[in-house]
Amino acid sequence: MSEPIILVHGGAWAIPDDACQAHQQGVEMAADAGWHALAKGASSLQAVEEAVAVLEDNDTFDSGRGAFLNRDGRVQLDALIMDGATLKAGGVGCVERLRNPVRAARVVLEKSPHIYFVAEGAERFASEHGIPLIDNSELVLPREVERWKNAAEQRYLSVPAEFAGGLAELEADDQSPQFDSHDTVGAVALDAKGNIAAATSTGGTLNKAPGRVGDSSLIGCGCYADNESAAASTTGWGEPMMKLVFAKWAADRVSPDMPPELVAPASIEYLHRRLNGHGGIILLDRRGRIGMAHNTPRMAWAWRNNAQHKSGVRYPG
Ligand code: GLY
Repeated sequence: MSEPIILVHGGAWAIPDDACQAHQQGVEMAADAGWHALAKGASSLQAVEEAVAVLEDNDTFDSGRGAFLNRDGRVQLDALIMDGATLKAGGVGCVERLRNPVRAARVVLEKSPHIYFVAEGAERFASEHGIPLIDNSELVLPREVERWKNAAEQRYLSVPAEFAGGLAELEADDQSPQFDSHDTVGAVALDAKGNIAAATSTGGTLNKAPGRVGDSSLIGCGCYADNESAAASTTGWGEPMMKLVFAKWAADRVSPDMPPELVAPASIEYLHRRLNGHGGIILLDRRGRIGMAHNTPRMAWAWRNNAQHKSGVRYPG
């Protein structure tokens, strides 16, 4: 028997002071939801689904309702869920009519011989398996319409500065507006049977080209889980993470002698050194050891086990 634990993130970026409370409360609620599932004996897979669904339902984050708008002014969502015990995975990309893409991803994992569905095909598959389809306008917030209009006026095209706003080491670029950003969410969990799982969900980058898919929903890039290594979920500028197959790169480095606590910062250092990447990662292994790191000014995180719950908007605090 293992001691269950869940760890979640709510995006790595320059979270403004006045948004910190909402982010911290949001990740705490998600960790609570995942924890309650684990405490009732649910699998780690179920726990990460529940935690990420809570984050998708929270307008604060760039996932589900309240996500960034793409260049067409529509919300287009990606999500992945993966089971470390079986290496089964389910992913959806470019979906516009699902309130909780992570639940559709779970259905793909459970019910399909395939692993990944996109756009109308993903929505049709979800609908055929009992998930209601909604109008895209139900996912769009007035706040995001304003943000999107400002971005269009400034001809903003999803540049890395979106994720890096406020970072001292970045050279100032007058052509790259320092937009307020909010980002991807994710969770990793360990259940009582000793199995780990991971899930990641996102609206992607502000004003992205329709059809653009980032790291979050791609196996091994923004999400990965393998009982033999670790469970990982990432947040941040997706393109560098995709090139490095970043979540799997990090998970593969976890071993009895290399705990997630050391691997997480080493992974972020690697991301930055190789491709000037910016973002964050959460990691968990079967021993219940956790690791977190980010090279953005802030990252919302929370974890919970039977004895403790902790959260913050920077790690280490
Ligand atoms: N990490 C989110 C994205 O780039 O889509």
